Amino acid sequence: MLPWFQNDQFPLYLAPMAGVTNLVFRRICKELGADVMVTEFVSAEGIIQADQRTRRYTEFEDEQRPVGVQLFGADGSRMAEAARKIIDWKEPDFIDINFGCPVNKVVSKNGGSSLLRDCPVLADVAEKIAKGVGDQVPVTAKIRIGWDADSINAPDVCTLLEESGMQAIAIHGRTRSQGYSGEADWEVIDECSRTVSVPVVGNGDISTGQDVELRKGTTGVSGVMIGRAAMQHPWVFQEAKHYLETGEHLPPVTPETRWELIIRHARMLLEWNVFPNEKFAMQSMRSRLMAYSRGLRNGKKLRVRFSTVETLSELEDIAAEYLAWCEKGGNESTGFVRQTDPVGSLTS
Ligand SMILES: Cc1cc2nc3c(=O)[nH]c(=O)nc-3n(C[C@H](O)[C@H](O)[C@H](O)COP(=O)(O)O)c2cc1C
Repeated sequence: MLPWFQNDQFPLYLAPMAGVTNLVFRRICKELGADVMVTEFVSAEGIIQADQRTRRYTEFEDEQRPVGVQLFGADGSRMAEAARKIIDWKEPDFIDINFGCPVNKVVSKNGGSSLLRDCPVLADVAEKIAKGVGDQVPVTAKIRIGWDADSINAPDVCTLLEESGMQAIAIHGRTRSQGYSGEADWEVIDECSRTVSVPVVGNGDISTGQDVELRKGTTGVSGVMIGRAAMQHPWVFQEAKHYLETGEHLPPVTPETRWELIIRHARMLLEWNVFPNEKFAMQSMRSRLMAYSRGLRNGKKLRVRFSTVETLSELEDIAAEYLAWCEKGGNESTGFVRQTDPVGSLTS
């Protein structure tokens, strides 16, 4: 049994999210209570070719452990080779195989969720990786519940994955065809958790401590994985833990605390030193800012401002204006008008 499931621990995983869960964001989520992290997916070929960008995707710090590196690919032997390479480089706590990615670029090359349609190949890939890695580190898998509504096969897939040597399975409760539409089907996730003896981690639409408690209490999952909610509100981990422990909600996160984190996130991104200059770093920060804006009043106006931000000091100015506006009452009538701003104020 993987250590983070032992003694009835109920780990909260940060879901792997390409373009989001980089070193800096993982650091934030870990500080806020995420227990287990998985890097965004990286291509097995990228690892074998030791390309620079792939190395960056797999970077992590010891404080973030346990950390898994998630691989995608279509060829079990190549993926096993990539897994061994990444173990040599980084010594992750586990290797995770992506059998859930719905994106055409991945699926068309028989990676990600495409193997849900071809169980023998899926089992073969999983087995080759598990055997190739041997007892160096555990191997886990992440799947969706099936290819489409007519072919929901997650319980069978889980059985195959367990037989192939996977030591835990994360299940996003949607089909590949659903993309992110509709709701995650937790009945199928529950069925899977009762079908196999390895831990099943449930994933899909968890955004509060109550959601975690509901799934913990009504399904057989051994942990949950949180994705989009963490992207917008990384405090979800500490809130969920507090709720599980006390049955009470933490007070809402204040705008001051939100901005503190936003600025710190941007600063850590600059300090990470992987971008050629500040402008590139801040451009890459924009999508994070868009997500963070969901937790702030007047988010729509903020998003307009965020869409052109190029420096940290610009972001600090927006934060100062926003907080000053909040102090004055923070509503439309007191106004937050920056006359020089060509794209309009946050409240107009
Ligand atoms: C922007 C984005 C990127 C994602 N990238 C990955 C990925 O690299 N690997 C993976 O297994 N899943 C990926 N996912 C899926 C998430 O891990 C998760 O399964 C999904 O968002 C459902 O969980 P949620 O409802 O908590 O968001 C991604 C999701 C999003 C929104």
